[in-house]
Amino acid sequence: MPNNNILTIENLSKSFDGIQAVNNCSFNVSTGSITGLIGPNGAGKTTVFNLITGFLSQDSGNVSFQQKLIDKDPTHNIFKKGLVRTFQIPRELKKMTVLENLLVVPKNQIGEHIWSPLFSFKKIQLEEEININKAKNILDFIRLNHLTNEYAGNLSTGQKKLLELARTLMSDPSLVLLDEPVAGVNPTLVNDLMDNIRRSNKELGITFLIIEHNMNFIMNLCNPIIVLSNGTKIAEGTAEQIKSDQSVVNAYLGG
Ligand SMILES: Nc1ncnc2c1ncn2[C@@H]1O[C@H](COP(=O)(O)OP(=O)(O)OP(=O)(O)O)[C@@H](O)[C@H]1O
Ligand SMILES: [Mg+2]
Repeated sequence: MPNNNILTIENLSKSFDGIQAVNNCSFNVSTGSITGLIGPNGAGKTTVFNLITGFLSQDSGNVSFQQKLIDKDPTHNIFKKGLVRTFQIPRELKKMTVLENLLVVPKNQIGEHIWSPLFSFKKIQLEEEININKAKNILDFIRLNHLTNEYAGNLSTGQKKLLELARTLMSDPSLVLLDEPVAGVNPTLVNDLMDNIRRSNKELGITFLIIEHNMNFIMNLCNPIIVLSNGTKIAEGTAEQIKSDQSVVNAYLGG
C-alpha cells in the first residue's frame, strides 16, 4: 500500500556482547518532514543511524528507504540512493580547504569511471567545473562562502557542523540523517544551523532525521519527535505532546 514514508524501520534489533543496543524498534519518517530522534545517553540512537546507513548490520528487522528494503545494501549504495548521514564527531578533512572538502564528496563522477564511454579529458574538465560551481553555490546557500579557502582544521566546531551539512548537500540527498548537529556549538551558530536545515528542507525538499540532546533546538525545529529509550521507541508526537508524556519524563529521570 502506498504511503508517505521515506524511511521505515520495522522491528529492528542489534546487540553487542550481550548489550541490547536496539530492541525491536519500529518507526517511520514521513517525506518532507524534519523529524527529531531523542533519548537518554545510550538509548541506541547512533546505533539506529549505523543500521540505517549500513555501517552495522542488524540482528533482525528491516529498514526500507523509499519503500524498498536497503538493509542488505552496502553503505556506498545507500549513499548513492540519496540517503546520507553525518557523524556525532565531525569528520572534516583538516588539511583540505572548505571547498576541497566539498569536492571530494563522491557522486557518480565521470572522471572516476575510466571505462565509461564518456571518458575523455574534456569531459572530466567539464565535470570538474560543474562540481566546483555546485560546491560554490552550496557554500553560498549555507553562507560559508567567506571560508571557501580556509583549511577545515581551522574552523570552529559550529563551522565544522555547517561544513558537514554542506557536504551532505553535494550528493543531492533525499534524506539526511544528522547525529548531534549542534553539540558543542555556540548559540549564534546553533541558530544558523537551524535556519540552514529549515531552508534545505523547504527550498531543496530534503527530509531530515535529527538526533540531538539540545531540547530547545529539537523542540523548535522538529515535528514529529520520536523518543527512544533502551533501544526502542517509547513515544512520538509534537514538542508539546513529548514534553507532557510521562514515559518520556521517566526515561530521562531514570537515565
Ligand atoms: N560498537 C559498539 N560496541 C559495543 N557496544 C556498543 C557499540 N556501539 C554502541 N554500543 C552500546 O550500545 C548502546 C547504545 O549506544 P548508542 O551509541 O547507539 O547510544 P546513543 O543513544 O547514540 O547515545 P548518546 O546520546 O550518548 O550518543 C550503549 O550501551 C553503547 O555502549
Ligand atoms: Mg549517539
